[in-house]
Amino acid sequence: MPKAVRYDEFGGIDVLRVDEVERPVPGDGQVLVRVKAAGINISEAVIRTGALADLFPSTFPSGQGSDLAGVIEEVGAGVAGFSPGDEVIGFNQKRASQAELVLVEASDLTHKPEKVSWEVAGSLYVVGVTAVGAVLAVQPKEGETVVVSGAAGGVGSLAVQLARRTGATVIGPASESNHEWLKSRDVIPIAYGEGVADRIRAAAPSGVDAFVDTFGHGYVELALALGVATDRIDTIADFAAAEKHGVKTDGGVAAGPGAKVLAELADLIADGHLEVPIANVYPLAQVREAYTELERRHTHGKIVLRPGQDFRLRHEAASRPHQARQGEWPPDRAADGVPPRGAQAPQPRRPRPEGSFRHAPTLGAGMLATAFTLISEVRAGPADATGHNGHRRGHRYLR
Ligand SMILES: NC(=O)c1ccc[n+]([C@@H]2O[C@H](COP(=O)([O-])OP(=O)(O)OC[C@H]3O[C@@H](n4cnc5c(N)ncnc54)[C@H](OP(=O)(O)O)[C@@H]3O)[C@@H](O)[C@H]2O)c1
Repeated sequence: MPKAVRYDEFGGIDVLRVDEVERPVPGDGQVLVRVKAAGINISEAVIRTGALADLFPSTFPSGQGSDLAGVIEEVGAGVAGFSPGDEVIGFNQKRASQAELVLVEASDLTHKPEKVSWEVAGSLYVVGVTAVGAVLAVQPKEGETVVVSGAAGGVGSLAVQLARRTGATVIGPASESNHEWLKSRDVIPIAYGEGVADRIRAAAPSGVDAFVDTFGHGYVELALALGVATDRIDTIADFAAAEKHGVKTDGGVAAGPGAKVLAELADLIADGHLEVPIANVYPLAQVREAYTELERRHTHGKIVLRPGQDFRLRHEAASRPHQARQGEWPPDRAADGVPPRGAQAPQPRRPRPEGSFRHAPTLGAGMLATAFTLISEVRAGPADATGHNGHRRGHRYLR
């Protein structure tokens, strides 16, 4: 029987388990996907606590996850443009992507370009549509300067690259260990923490024109203090500040139809124009370890589950910082968890920069952001009247 992540009650990471479940049967317009990779997101962790139960009620046992990439196993009646064996990228609107087999609406899928790794494809949806929506919201232009907080995180690592593609100069506050990566993407890295405003001013002598906040905790106020106009500030993480100051909160909904945006992003990745850093890869059985790492809130890029893979991460590996790129880790790890020859050895966690911008993040503090994330996920569903094969690629800001 296929395995799936399940939980029976709201709670912490320890309520998560991997169960054997009935094989799903695709209904009209649905496709059964054998999941190769499923990225994990912080919104799922907050939902699981029950903090948003009024907004997003759960029925138990509950599944978990939206992001997925895999191979089509079966197609239901009325599905056109997809066949068994097709490699696809997509999202599950029922929060159940962390499974070996999952039902997906065909309109929530696009074909996976061969050059895009499973890890990257499976992590693309939530952070991808959100980064597109957030960057579009602030309309960066050539010659302007944009700051992206949380610059090396899941959303931030894509937002900095998309903003840079507009020709704008991009400044990215991040931990020291992420500075080399940011430089490699032509982004100006700076340390966050005490003195961040002065460091931004020094890096942007002509001023800051736009600000994308993916972290919260004071960055909206910082953007205002830097003189950025309210309609050029977008936060996906601090909705109280957005309401107070009248700045934007555009995320995935603003990006357009989810499958269409996924197709555009996948093309950019396949063509080498966009990179999704993969921080770590876990087998489905280690879903608890995966969320333990994610909830530390210092992920560079994405953490991904690989259903159907039976490798095991050693404890040290689970806590090492990001090192992998484009799915190089593991995926041919031996079954005993020993990395293949030549793979990077687990390393101790990197030190945090001194001080923090305002205060350390907590799951509770991210609740509103999570609500927005989920609204985005739900609303970014089927909306493309052209059908899955008719997704026109090439968003005007992403070319
Ligand atoms: N509205 C939407 O549609 C939507 C969608 C997705 C996500 N979100 C929200 O967006 C936020 C980011 O999500 P994500 O998936 O990108 O998170 P993530 O991958 O966990 O990234 C966390 C980032 O926060 C940075 N960080 C940690 N402590 C910091 C501090 N004190 N000051 C500045 N930066 C700090 C980390 O940077 P270093 O590692 O460099 O320290 C890391 O890059 C979350 O609040 C999430 O709920 C909203």
